[in-house]
Amino acid sequence: MEQPLYNEYAAQLAYTEDRQLTAQYETEVHFQKCYGVMDELYEAHDYLRSLVPGFKFLDLGCAPGGFSSYLLEDPRCAMGFGVTLPSTLGGFPMRLRSSNFLLQQGDLFELGPGDLICKEVHICICDAQYMRNEVAWDEKYTGVRCRSKQHGVWALLMKQFWLGLTRLLPGGLLIFRFGWRDGPPEDLATVWYKKCTLRLFALLKDLFAQVKEVKSDHFNSLHSSFYVCCFGFNRKRFEDRGVAKLLGHTFNYLVTTRISDANQLEILPQVDSIRSTALDEHFSKMLDRMEKLRVVHEQSQSPIAGTEHDNLAEIRELRKELKTRRAEAATR
Ligand SMILES: C[S@@+](CC[C@H](N)C(=O)[O-])C[C@H]1O[C@@H](n2cnc3c(N)ncnc32)[C@H](O)[C@@H]1O
Repeated sequence: MEQPLYNEYAAQLAYTEDRQLTAQYETEVHFQKCYGVMDELYEAHDYLRSLVPGFKFLDLGCAPGGFSSYLLEDPRCAMGFGVTLPSTLGGFPMRLRSSNFLLQQGDLFELGPGDLICKEVHICICDAQYMRNEVAWDEKYTGVRCRSKQHGVWALLMKQFWLGLTRLLPGGLLIFRFGWRDGPPEDLATVWYKKCTLRLFALLKDLFAQVKEVKSDHFNSLHSSFYVCCFGFNRKRFEDRGVAKLLGHTFNYLVTTRISDANQLEILPQVDSIRSTALDEHFSKMLDRMEKLRVVHEQSQSPIAGTEHDNLAEIRELRKELKTRRAEAATR
């Protein structure tokens, strides 16, 4: 009998192996980028340099573990807690293993504050992104799905703040990722998104001594996302104003509402009572700065700022270069 020219089993095996290799590579790229971003956040903020010895952190949406790894390498760090979506539901796989890191596998949509293993922390990171098949591990997301992407994005953000702030110690630090892209002023979705954003930032400004944005010059610089660091948590005000209940209520509203047009959603309207024109202007300028930086990076010819760095060797090389530059700057 002649040898078949096409072996379906072998082809399937090769395809699966190829996909696994690609996924491992992408996990590593993601890990290295996040590690690099945390390095930049440390660089940009004195607060991170003056953290208390023995500090603890909670990292929500922690896989593959770039942020957590960076913090655990800080000799002042006592312990880290992470929550992340199991990869069987489409969550990213966790690359970090450490004896002083406690990983809780679970869906943030389904966890309540009482389910968190972690008790009190000095830093809380909220970096879980609302999943879709295109970004999920193995391209299959089987977790909670909301009515629209905006329902999901805001619900997940509210839930992370709800969980995280209930565990944050007075004076603590909140770090989260936020997305912004300025559309034409008459665009309904942009008007709606901006209103929600200004409410959110007014709330944060009420609860923290400082709210500062950082757009990485090197990693994801062409994306609309940036990181926000909120320092000096006023826990008493959080409790007095009933913010945990407000966040919980907003989350429940977003996952149960029958409103399907996201532009009709009323997110955090209660915050309007503490909003002011000055605050709105302050945060509108912040959003403009973030958008301008993204455009500058887009137009930049610089080999560092003007590319997206999705290549692992390139990212490693870049991280080495940044480290050398920092060491040189420190000796100057
Ligand atoms: C941008 S990545 C976080 C990267 C991480 N900060 C790091 O340093 O490596 C987003 C993470 O959120 C997780 N995630 C998304 N939806 C989630 C959910 N509903 N519950 C828990 N984790 C979730 C994803 O699986 C992924 O690990």
